[in-house]
Amino acid sequence: MVSKTLIALVAATLLQEVAAASPRHAHMHVKRGIVTEVVTVTDWVTVTADGAAPTSTSSSPAEVAPAPIAEVAPTPTPEVAPTDEVLNAARVRPSADPVEPVAPAPVEPASPAVPAAPVVPVETNIAVPTGSGSSTGGGSSAPSGARGRGLAYNDANLLTRFLGTGSKISWSYNWAQTGDSKSGLEFVPMMWSTGKGFPNTWEANAKKMIAAGSKALFSFNEPDHEEQANMSPQAAAAAHKQYMNPFQGQARIGTPSVTNGGGSMGLNWLQSWFSACAGGCAADFVNLHIYGVPTDQFLAHLVKANQMFNKPVWITEFGFDGSESQINDQLAHVIDQIETNATYSFVERYAYFMAAPGIMVKGDGMSAYGNTFAYANAV
Ligand SMILES: *[C@@H]1O[C@H](CO)[C@@H](O)[C@H](O)[C@H]1NC(C)=O
Repeated sequence: MVSKTLIALVAATLLQEVAAASPRHAHMHVKRGIVTEVVTVTDWVTVTADGAAPTSTSSSPAEVAPAPIAEVAPTPTPEVAPTDEVLNAARVRPSADPVEPVAPAPVEPASPAVPAAPVVPVETNIAVPTGSGSSTGGGSSAPSGARGRGLAYNDANLLTRFLGTGSKISWSYNWAQTGDSKSGLEFVPMMWSTGKGFPNTWEANAKKMIAAGSKALFSFNEPDHEEQANMSPQAAAAAHKQYMNPFQGQARIGTPSVTNGGGSMGLNWLQSWFSACAGGCAADFVNLHIYGVPTDQFLAHLVKANQMFNKPVWITEFGFDGSESQINDQLAHVIDQIETNATYSFVERYAYFMAAPGIMVKGDGMSAYGNTFAYANAV
């Protein structure tokens, strides 16, 4: 049922950014999560950095000009499962990489489950910087976030393998406003966008999840990306004030998440957002997504974001390129740096993309890097 059609979903500017980042790689794969209340779709883009023909059997010359995007509408009603047609239209797979598509999350018919026993956050000594770049609308008394690794998931049935004895996982999210992990992990609700009816349900869902133990809230998902929340910094600032600010002090509030694209995307988009906020947006941490760069650039991006905005950093989506063992080596290295090197002590939480088949899940178990993310100590 899986379409193998290769469709480019990422703007040319992002492709150029990624290609430029790793000129030695003839082919780069960028994982994208298009996520709705009920489904995460993994999209792939093949980038040829050296002009070589892509290995794809795609009928679409997708490397530069993105194909018209199938509407993958985040639906506000978890009851409605997307059709295969919608899923297949949105799935983009690299022909050279045996990554399985992300399965739609099981549908929770009536009442979305509330995480039963929220994990008590571990207090940390992370100082929350204040001052320049801050858009906190006055004295944030938000509780500290637990530091550590989290699971980005769609299918809650896949999570138990990450949560065995010695697991380092302490939180979870699923791009939706309510969680169904049934795992006891702290859940972080996400508003996602101002479209698709999300504002109608946000206030009640955020309140419900905070009452159930959520310590943090996510704002909009990649508003700098035209296929994600796709919002101007100005619109996102106004909407963030309206929908996120009311929870200031009740939960730790993230900025809208941004890609690591260049130009008007990524950190530049976030800079514009902070400017548009004019000090009036609740923002306890910066929310980053980082794909397709080597570990040194990954780590440098974290430092740059921290220096630009003077706030703690969460990385809520990231992915490395390469074989399973190459990805594992890169992940182990950044885990070690984030968790042991004081240079990166501003990083509070991070979640590898994602707990799904072909990525961190492999068969009945886990991929090497899935196992590393869940269980490895910093080396
Ligand atoms: C910590 O990070 C800094 C900045 O990247 C690096 O220069 C240093 O070597 C790192 N220290 C260790 C022990 O890895």
